[in-house]
Amino acid sequence: MNRAPATAARAEPTRPPLLSTTLRMEPDDVRAWVVVDRVVDGLAMGGTRMTATVTEGELARLARAMTDKLALVDLPIGGAKAGIAPAPGAPVERLETMRSFGRAAAPLLHGGVYLGCDQGTTYADRRTAFDAAGYDVAHRPGATRLTVGWDELWTHMADVTGFGVAVAVLGALRAAGTRTPQRIAIQGFGTVGRAVAGHLSDHGHLIVAVADVRGTIEDQSGLPVAALTAITSSDGTVDRTRLPASARVHASAGAWLNVDADVLVLAASAAAVGADEVPGVRAGTVVEGGNMSCTEPARRLLREAGHTVLPDVVVNVGGAAATGCVLAGIAPSDLPLPRLSAWLRDWISTRITRNCELVQELHASGSADPVARLLAEKGVHRAPAV
Ligand SMILES: NC(=O)c1ccc[n+]([C@@H]2O[C@H](COP(=O)([O-])OP(=O)(O)OC[C@H]3O[C@@H](n4cnc5c(N)ncnc54)[C@H](O)[C@@H]3O)[C@@H](O)[C@H]2O)c1
Repeated sequence: MNRAPATAARAEPTRPPLLSTTLRMEPDDVRAWVVVDRVVDGLAMGGTRMTATVTEGELARLARAMTDKLALVDLPIGGAKAGIAPAPGAPVERLETMRSFGRAAAPLLHGGVYLGCDQGTTYADRRTAFDAAGYDVAHRPGATRLTVGWDELWTHMADVTGFGVAVAVLGALRAAGTRTPQRIAIQGFGTVGRAVAGHLSDHGHLIVAVADVRGTIEDQSGLPVAALTAITSSDGTVDRTRLPASARVHASAGAWLNVDADVLVLAASAAAVGADEVPGVRAGTVVEGGNMSCTEPARRLLREAGHTVLPDVVVNVGGAAATGCVLAGIAPSDLPLPRLSAWLRDWISTRITRNCELVQELHASGSADPVARLLAEKGVHRAPAV
Protein backbone atom coordinates (compact mmCIF):
# COMPACT_ATOMS: atom_id res chain seq x y z
CA MET A 1 0.00 0.00 0.00
CA ASN A 2 1.23 3.47 -0.83
CA ARG A 3 1.36 5.54 2.35
CA ALA A 4 0.61 9.25 2.27
CA PRO A 5 3.08 11.61 3.87
CA ALA A 6 1.82 12.47 7.35
CA THR A 7 1.79 16.17 6.50
CA ALA A 8 -0.57 15.84 3.52
CA ALA A 9 -3.39 18.40 3.57
CA ARG A 10 -6.54 16.89 5.01
CA ALA A 11 -10.13 17.39 3.87
CA GLU A 12 -8.92 17.93 0.29
CA PRO A 13 -10.19 14.96 -1.67
CA THR A 14 -7.03 13.90 -3.45
CA ARG A 15 -8.80 10.60 -4.15
CA PRO A 16 -12.32 10.67 -5.63
CA PRO A 17 -15.17 9.54 -3.37
CA LEU A 18 -16.30 5.94 -3.48
CA LEU A 19 -19.65 6.98 -4.91
CA SER A 20 -21.12 10.27 -6.09
CA THR A 21 -24.57 10.18 -7.52
CA THR A 22 -27.18 12.63 -8.83
CA LEU A 23 -30.75 12.02 -7.67
CA ARG A 24 -33.71 12.54 -9.97
CA MET A 25 -35.90 15.01 -8.10
CA GLU A 26 -39.42 16.27 -8.60
CA PRO A 27 -39.79 19.04 -9.61
CA ASP A 28 -36.83 18.39 -11.86
CA ASP A 29 -35.33 21.87 -11.48
CA VAL A 30 -34.27 20.94 -7.91
CA ARG A 31 -30.80 19.36 -7.99
CA ALA A 32 -29.66 16.78 -5.41
CA TRP A 33 -26.66 14.52 -4.85
CA VAL A 34 -25.42 11.90 -2.43
CA VAL A 35 -21.67 11.50 -2.02
CA VAL A 36 -20.16 8.55 -0.15
CA ASP A 37 -16.48 8.97 0.66
CA ARG A 38 -15.94 5.62 2.36
CA VAL A 39 -17.90 2.58 3.54
CA VAL A 40 -16.78 0.70 6.66
CA ASP A 41 -18.50 -2.52 7.74
CA GLY A 42 -21.33 -1.73 5.31
CA LEU A 43 -22.03 1.70 6.80
CA ALA A 44 -21.53 5.33 5.82
CA MET A 45 -23.16 8.44 7.26
CA GLY A 46 -23.45 12.22 6.99
CA GLY A 47 -25.96 15.07 6.89
CA THR A 48 -28.17 16.42 4.12
CA ARG A 49 -27.44 20.07 3.32
CA MET A 50 -30.03 22.23 1.56
CA THR A 51 -28.63 25.51 0.25
CA ALA A 52 -28.92 27.37 -3.03
CA THR A 53 -25.18 27.13 -3.58
CA VAL A 54 -24.31 23.55 -2.59
CA THR A 55 -22.23 21.66 -5.16
CA GLU A 56 -21.09 18.09 -5.62
CA GLY A 57 -17.49 19.24 -4.99
CA GLU A 58 -18.46 20.82 -1.64
CA LEU A 59 -20.21 17.57 -0.68
CA ALA A 60 -17.12 15.53 -1.57
CA ARG A 61 -14.99 17.68 0.79
CA LEU A 62 -17.60 17.43 3.56
CA ALA A 63 -17.97 13.64 3.09
CA ARG A 64 -14.20 13.35 3.39
CA ALA A 65 -14.23 15.44 6.57
CA MET A 66 -16.95 13.11 7.90
CA THR A 67 -14.71 10.09 7.22
CA ASP A 68 -11.98 11.84 9.21
CA LYS A 69 -14.26 12.71 12.16
CA LEU A 70 -15.61 9.18 12.47
CA ALA A 71 -12.17 7.58 12.13
CA LEU A 72 -10.73 9.88 14.80
CA VAL A 73 -13.26 8.59 17.36
CA ASP A 74 -12.75 4.99 16.14
CA LEU A 75 -16.29 4.54 14.87
CA PRO A 76 -16.44 1.82 12.17
CA ILE A 77 -18.44 3.98 9.73
CA GLY A 78 -17.39 5.83 6.57
CA GLY A 79 -18.22 9.45 5.69
CA ALA A 80 -21.02 10.60 3.38
CA LYS A 81 -22.95 13.80 2.65
CA ALA A 82 -26.04 14.71 0.69
CA GLY A 83 -27.00 18.03 -0.86
CA ILE A 84 -30.18 19.58 -2.21
CA ALA A 85 -29.99 22.76 -4.29
CA PRO A 86 -33.47 24.27 -4.76
CA ALA A 87 -34.24 25.90 -8.09
CA PRO A 88 -32.90 29.47 -8.16
CA GLY A 89 -35.60 32.06 -7.48
CA ALA A 90 -38.44 29.54 -7.02
CA PRO A 91 -40.16 29.09 -3.62
CA VAL A 92 -38.99 25.89 -1.87
CA GLU A 93 -41.81 23.32 -1.70
CA ARG A 94 -40.28 21.85 1.44
CA LEU A 95 -42.52 18.86 1.99
CA GLU A 96 -42.48 17.77 -1.65
CA THR A 97 -38.72 18.31 -1.93
CA MET A 98 -37.95 16.18 1.13
CA ARG A 99 -40.38 13.45 0.02
CA SER A 100 -38.79 13.38 -3.40
CA PHE A 101 -35.32 13.26 -1.82
CA GLY A 102 -36.39 10.39 0.47
CA ARG A 103 -37.83 8.36 -2.42
CA ALA A 104 -34.71 8.83 -4.55
CA ALA A 105 -32.25 8.18 -1.71
CA ALA A 106 -34.19 5.13 -0.39
CA PRO A 107 -31.85 2.47 -1.87
CA LEU A 108 -28.88 4.19 -0.28
CA LEU A 109 -30.57 4.62 3.11
CA HIS A 110 -31.64 0.96 3.18
CA GLY A 111 -28.20 -0.03 1.90
CA GLY A 112 -26.39 1.46 4.92
CA VAL A 113 -25.89 5.14 3.96
CA TYR A 114 -27.47 7.14 6.81
CA LEU A 115 -28.39 10.72 5.79
CA GLY A 116 -29.31 12.98 8.74
CA CYS A 117 -29.67 16.76 9.18
CA ASP A 118 -27.20 19.43 8.17
CA GLN A 119 -27.27 23.11 7.24
CA GLY A 120 -30.74 24.03 5.91
CA THR A 121 -32.55 20.84 6.98
CA THR A 122 -34.49 20.20 10.19
CA TYR A 123 -35.54 17.12 12.16
CA ALA A 124 -38.98 17.47 10.53
CA ASP A 125 -37.36 17.43 7.05
CA ARG A 126 -35.41 14.32 7.99
CA ARG A 127 -38.58 12.61 9.20
CA THR A 128 -40.37 13.47 5.93
CA ALA A 129 -37.51 11.99 3.88
CA PHE A 130 -37.26 8.84 6.05
CA ASP A 131 -41.04 8.29 5.89
CA ALA A 132 -40.98 8.62 2.09
CA ALA A 133 -38.12 6.10 1.97
CA GLY A 134 -39.83 3.70 4.40
CA TYR A 135 -36.67 3.92 6.51
CA ASP A 136 -36.50 3.71 10.30
CA VAL A 137 -33.24 3.66 12.27
CA ALA A 138 -34.97 1.51 14.93
CA HIS A 139 -35.30 -1.33 12.41
CA ARG A 140 -31.71 -1.28 11.19
CA PRO A 141 -30.11 -4.67 11.96
CA GLY A 142 -27.26 -4.24 14.45
CA ALA A 143 -28.36 -0.79 15.65
CA THR A 144 -28.86 0.03 19.33
CA ARG A 145 -32.45 -0.68 20.44
CA LEU A 146 -33.93 2.62 21.58
CA THR A 147 -36.61 3.15 24.20
CA VAL A 148 -37.63 6.41 22.46
CA GLY A 149 -38.22 7.52 18.89
CA TRP A 150 -35.34 8.93 16.81
CA ASP A 151 -36.83 12.46 16.83
CA GLU A 152 -37.30 12.39 20.60
CA LEU A 153 -33.69 11.32 21.14
CA TRP A 154 -32.50 14.17 18.92
CA THR A 155 -34.71 16.78 20.53
CA HIS A 156 -32.98 15.81 23.78
CA MET A 157 -29.49 15.71 22.18
CA ALA A 158 -29.78 18.85 20.00
CA ASP A 159 -26.93 20.52 21.93
CA VAL A 160 -24.53 17.57 21.64
CA THR A 161 -22.20 19.02 18.99
CA GLY A 162 -21.83 22.24 21.01
CA PHE A 163 -21.39 20.11 24.14
CA GLY A 164 -18.42 18.35 22.46
CA VAL A 165 -16.90 21.67 21.37
CA ALA A 166 -17.23 22.96 24.95
CA VAL A 167 -15.54 19.78 26.26
CA ALA A 168 -12.62 20.49 23.90
CA VAL A 169 -12.35 24.09 25.15
CA LEU A 170 -12.46 23.02 28.80
CA GLY A 171 -9.74 20.40 28.16
CA ALA A 172 -7.49 22.96 26.46
CA LEU A 173 -7.97 25.47 29.28
CA ARG A 174 -7.22 22.76 31.86
CA ALA A 175 -4.07 21.73 29.98
CA ALA A 176 -2.92 25.36 29.83
CA GLY A 177 -3.50 25.75 33.59
CA THR A 178 -5.69 28.83 33.16
CA ARG A 179 -7.92 30.27 35.88
CA THR A 180 -11.72 30.44 35.64
CA PRO A 181 -13.31 32.56 34.28
CA GLN A 182 -11.76 32.85 30.84
CA ARG A 183 -13.25 35.24 28.26
CA ILE A 184 -14.94 33.48 25.33
CA ALA A 185 -15.96 35.04 21.98
CA ILE A 186 -18.22 32.98 19.69
CA GLN A 187 -18.76 33.59 15.98
CA GLY A 188 -22.18 32.09 15.16
CA PHE A 189 -25.08 31.87 17.63
CA GLY A 190 -26.94 28.99 15.97
CA THR A 191 -27.37 25.42 17.20
CA VAL A 192 -23.66 24.95 17.87
CA GLY A 193 -22.78 28.47 19.10
CA ARG A 194 -25.66 28.65 21.59
CA ALA A 195 -24.83 25.22 23.04
CA VAL A 196 -21.13 26.11 23.40
CA ALA A 197 -22.09 29.36 25.13
CA GLY A 198 -24.47 27.54 27.51
CA HIS A 199 -22.02 24.80 28.50
CA LEU A 200 -19.02 27.13 28.95
CA SER A 201 -21.07 29.62 30.93
CA ASP A 202 -22.33 26.73 33.13
CA HIS A 203 -18.64 26.03 33.85
CA GLY A 204 -18.10 29.59 35.06
CA HIS A 205 -16.59 31.18 31.94
CA LEU A 206 -17.59 34.59 30.59
CA ILE A 207 -19.16 34.81 27.14
CA VAL A 208 -17.87 38.27 26.22
CA ALA A 209 -19.06 38.34 22.60
CA VAL A 210 -21.35 36.49 20.24
CA ALA A 211 -21.71 37.19 16.52
CA ASP A 212 -24.53 36.37 14.18
CA VAL A 213 -25.00 37.19 10.51
CA ARG A 214 -25.94 40.81 11.45
CA GLY A 215 -22.87 41.66 13.54
CA THR A 216 -21.24 41.22 16.95
CA ILE A 217 -22.72 41.73 20.43
CA GLU A 218 -20.13 42.36 23.15
CA ASP A 219 -20.09 42.78 26.90
CA GLN A 220 -16.73 42.36 28.60
CA SER A 221 -18.47 41.75 31.93
CA GLY A 222 -20.19 38.69 30.40
CA LEU A 223 -23.35 38.34 28.30
CA PRO A 224 -26.40 36.69 29.96
CA VAL A 225 -26.48 33.53 27.84
CA ALA A 226 -29.97 32.26 28.75
CA ALA A 227 -31.53 35.70 28.20
CA LEU A 228 -29.70 36.08 24.88
CA THR A 229 -30.79 32.61 23.77
CA ALA A 230 -34.39 33.51 24.59
CA ILE A 231 -34.28 36.43 22.13
CA THR A 232 -32.59 34.44 19.33
CA SER A 233 -34.51 32.96 16.40
CA SER A 234 -34.13 29.31 15.40
CA ASP A 235 -31.80 30.35 12.56
CA GLY A 236 -29.47 32.04 15.07
CA THR A 237 -30.32 35.74 14.67
CA VAL A 238 -30.43 37.78 17.89
CA ASP A 239 -33.26 40.33 18.26
CA ARG A 240 -31.43 43.68 18.51
CA THR A 241 -34.46 45.43 20.01
CA ARG A 242 -34.37 43.34 23.23
CA LEU A 243 -30.65 43.34 24.08
CA PRO A 244 -29.49 43.92 27.66
CA ALA A 245 -28.51 47.58 28.25
CA SER A 246 -24.85 46.69 28.91
CA ALA A 247 -24.39 45.03 25.50
CA ARG A 248 -22.44 46.89 22.83
CA VAL A 249 -23.33 46.19 19.20
CA HIS A 250 -20.75 46.21 16.40
CA ALA A 251 -22.34 46.16 12.96
CA SER A 252 -19.11 45.61 11.02
CA ALA A 253 -18.89 42.13 9.52
CA GLY A 254 -15.63 40.96 11.11
CA ALA A 255 -15.81 42.63 14.56
CA TRP A 256 -15.86 39.22 16.33
CA LEU A 257 -12.29 38.67 15.12
CA ASN A 258 -10.86 41.59 17.08
CA VAL A 259 -12.81 41.19 20.34
CA ASP A 260 -10.59 40.99 23.40
CA ALA A 261 -11.02 37.34 24.42
CA ASP A 262 -8.96 34.35 25.56
CA VAL A 263 -10.83 31.83 23.39
CA LEU A 264 -12.41 32.35 19.96
CA VAL A 265 -14.96 29.70 18.97
CA LEU A 266 -15.84 29.69 15.26
CA ALA A 267 -19.34 28.27 14.77
CA ALA A 268 -20.66 29.89 11.60
CA SER A 269 -19.53 29.31 8.04
CA ALA A 270 -16.48 27.75 6.36
CA ALA A 271 -13.26 29.74 5.88
CA ALA A 272 -14.18 32.34 8.53
CA VAL A 273 -10.48 32.71 9.30
CA GLY A 274 -8.18 32.74 6.30
CA ALA A 275 -4.53 33.73 6.11
CA ASP A 276 -5.46 37.44 5.87
CA GLU A 277 -7.43 37.30 9.12
CA VAL A 278 -4.69 35.61 11.17
CA PRO A 279 -2.86 38.80 12.26
CA GLY A 280 -6.17 40.16 13.65
CA VAL A 281 -6.87 37.15 15.90
CA ARG A 282 -6.44 38.19 19.56
CA ALA A 283 -7.53 35.02 21.36
CA GLY A 284 -4.80 32.57 22.35
CA THR A 285 -7.03 29.57 21.59
CA VAL A 286 -9.00 29.22 18.35
CA VAL A 287 -11.62 26.49 18.17
CA GLU A 288 -13.20 25.29 14.92
CA GLY A 289 -16.75 24.53 16.04
CA GLY A 290 -17.96 24.74 12.43
CA ASN A 291 -16.74 22.68 9.51
CA MET A 292 -13.53 24.00 7.92
CA SER A 293 -13.85 27.29 9.87
CA CYS A 294 -10.17 28.00 9.24
CA THR A 295 -8.46 27.53 5.91
CA GLU A 296 -5.49 25.16 5.93
CA PRO A 297 -2.94 28.04 5.58
CA ALA A 298 -4.68 29.91 8.43
CA ARG A 299 -4.41 26.87 10.72
CA ARG A 300 -0.67 26.67 10.03
CA LEU A 301 -0.11 30.42 10.45
CA LEU A 302 -2.10 30.52 13.70
CA ARG A 303 0.01 27.68 15.14
CA GLU A 304 3.23 29.34 13.97
CA ALA A 305 2.10 32.56 15.70
CA GLY A 306 1.69 30.61 18.97
CA HIS A 307 -2.10 30.15 19.04
CA THR A 308 -3.59 26.84 20.14
CA VAL A 309 -5.86 25.57 17.33
CA LEU A 310 -8.49 22.93 18.04
CA PRO A 311 -9.46 21.55 14.60
CA ASP A 312 -13.02 20.92 13.34
CA VAL A 313 -12.81 17.19 12.73
CA VAL A 314 -11.56 16.70 16.29
CA VAL A 315 -13.98 18.95 18.17
CA ASN A 316 -17.32 19.09 16.32
CA VAL A 317 -17.93 15.34 16.11
CA GLY A 318 -20.59 15.24 18.89
CA GLY A 319 -23.71 14.87 16.75
CA ALA A 320 -22.06 12.48 14.29
CA ALA A 321 -20.61 10.36 17.09
CA ALA A 322 -23.95 10.07 18.91
CA THR A 323 -25.65 8.96 15.68
CA GLY A 324 -22.79 6.60 14.84
CA CYS A 325 -22.85 4.96 18.29
CA VAL A 326 -26.51 4.08 17.76
CA LEU A 327 -26.21 3.03 14.09
CA ALA A 328 -23.26 0.76 14.77
CA GLY A 329 -24.88 -0.66 17.93
CA ILE A 330 -22.06 0.62 20.15
CA ALA A 331 -24.41 2.42 22.55
CA PRO A 332 -26.14 0.02 24.97
CA SER A 333 -29.71 -1.00 24.07
CA ASP A 334 -32.87 -0.37 26.08
CA LEU A 335 -31.54 2.45 28.29
CA PRO A 336 -34.05 5.10 29.34
CA LEU A 337 -33.40 8.44 27.59
CA PRO A 338 -31.52 10.25 30.42
CA ARG A 339 -29.13 7.31 30.88
CA LEU A 340 -28.58 6.88 27.14
CA SER A 341 -27.88 10.61 26.82
CA ALA A 342 -25.41 10.48 29.73
CA TRP A 343 -23.70 7.39 28.23
CA LEU A 344 -23.34 9.07 24.81
CA ARG A 345 -22.02 12.32 26.32
CA ASP A 346 -19.47 10.44 28.38
CA TRP A 347 -18.33 8.42 25.32
CA ILE A 348 -18.00 11.59 23.22
CA SER A 349 -16.31 13.59 25.96
CA THR A 350 -13.62 10.93 26.57
CA ARG A 351 -12.69 10.74 22.88
CA ILE A 352 -12.70 14.48 22.15
CA THR A 353 -10.60 15.19 25.24
CA ARG A 354 -8.07 12.50 24.30
CA ASN A 355 -7.84 13.60 20.66
CA CYS A 356 -7.31 17.24 21.66
CA GLU A 357 -4.48 16.13 23.94
CA LEU A 358 -2.91 14.09 21.12
CA VAL A 359 -3.18 17.02 18.70
CA GLN A 360 -1.41 19.27 21.20
CA GLU A 361 1.29 16.66 21.91
CA LEU A 362 1.96 16.14 18.20
CA HIS A 363 2.08 19.88 17.62
CA ALA A 364 4.52 20.31 20.53
CA SER A 365 6.74 17.60 19.04
CA GLY A 366 6.96 19.51 15.74
CA SER A 367 4.21 17.97 13.60
CA ALA A 368 2.98 20.47 10.99
CA ASP A 369 -0.37 18.69 10.61
CA PRO A 370 -1.24 16.73 13.76
CA VAL A 371 -4.64 15.63 12.42
CA ALA A 372 -3.12 14.08 9.30
CA ARG A 373 -0.69 12.23 11.59
CA LEU A 374 -3.50 10.92 13.80
CA LEU A 375 -5.50 9.86 10.76
CA ALA A 376 -2.52 8.10 9.20
CA GLU A 377 -2.12 6.13 12.44
CA LYS A 378 -5.75 5.03 12.03
CA GLY A 379 -5.20 3.96 8.41
CA VAL A 380 -6.88 6.99 6.78
CA HIS A 381 -4.52 8.48 4.20
CA ARG A 382 -4.80 11.52 2.02
CA ALA A 383 -2.82 10.55 -1.09
CA PRO A 384 -4.33 8.68 -4.04
CA ALA A 385 -3.99 4.91 -3.77
CA VAL A 386 -1.77 3.52 -6.54
N1 LIG B 1 -25.49 21.59 14.09
C1 LIG B 1 -24.62 20.60 14.23
O1 LIG B 1 -24.84 19.61 14.97
C2 LIG B 1 -23.29 20.65 13.52
C3 LIG B 1 -22.46 19.53 13.56
C4 LIG B 1 -21.19 19.60 12.97
C5 LIG B 1 -20.80 20.76 12.33
N2 LIG B 1 -21.65 21.82 12.27
C6 LIG B 1 -21.17 23.02 11.60
O2 LIG B 1 -21.12 24.08 12.54
C7 LIG B 1 -21.43 25.33 11.90
C8 LIG B 1 -22.59 25.99 12.61
O3 LIG B 1 -23.69 25.09 12.59
P1 LIG B 1 -25.10 25.46 13.23
O4 LIG B 1 -25.90 24.21 13.14
O5 LIG B 1 -24.88 26.11 14.54
O6 LIG B 1 -25.63 26.53 12.18
P2 LIG B 1 -26.89 27.51 12.34
O7 LIG B 1 -27.37 27.74 10.96
O8 LIG B 1 -27.81 27.02 13.39
O9 LIG B 1 -26.22 28.87 12.88
C9 LIG B 1 -25.25 29.60 12.16
C10 LIG B 1 -24.96 30.88 12.94
O10 LIG B 1 -23.88 31.55 12.28
C11 LIG B 1 -24.26 32.92 12.07
N3 LIG B 1 -23.53 33.42 10.92
C12 LIG B 1 -23.66 33.08 9.62
N4 LIG B 1 -22.78 33.78 8.88
C13 LIG B 1 -22.09 34.56 9.74
C14 LIG B 1 -21.06 35.50 9.59
N5 LIG B 1 -20.53 35.76 8.39
N6 LIG B 1 -20.57 36.13 10.69
C15 LIG B 1 -21.08 35.86 11.91
N7 LIG B 1 -22.07 34.97 12.12
C16 LIG B 1 -22.56 34.33 11.04
C17 LIG B 1 -25.77 32.86 11.87
O11 LIG B 1 -26.39 34.12 12.05
C18 LIG B 1 -26.12 31.87 12.98
O12 LIG B 1 -26.12 32.53 14.23
C19 LIG B 1 -21.66 24.97 10.44
O13 LIG B 1 -20.40 25.05 9.78
C20 LIG B 1 -22.09 23.53 10.48
O14 LIG B 1 -21.85 22.85 9.26
C21 LIG B 1 -22.88 21.80 12.84
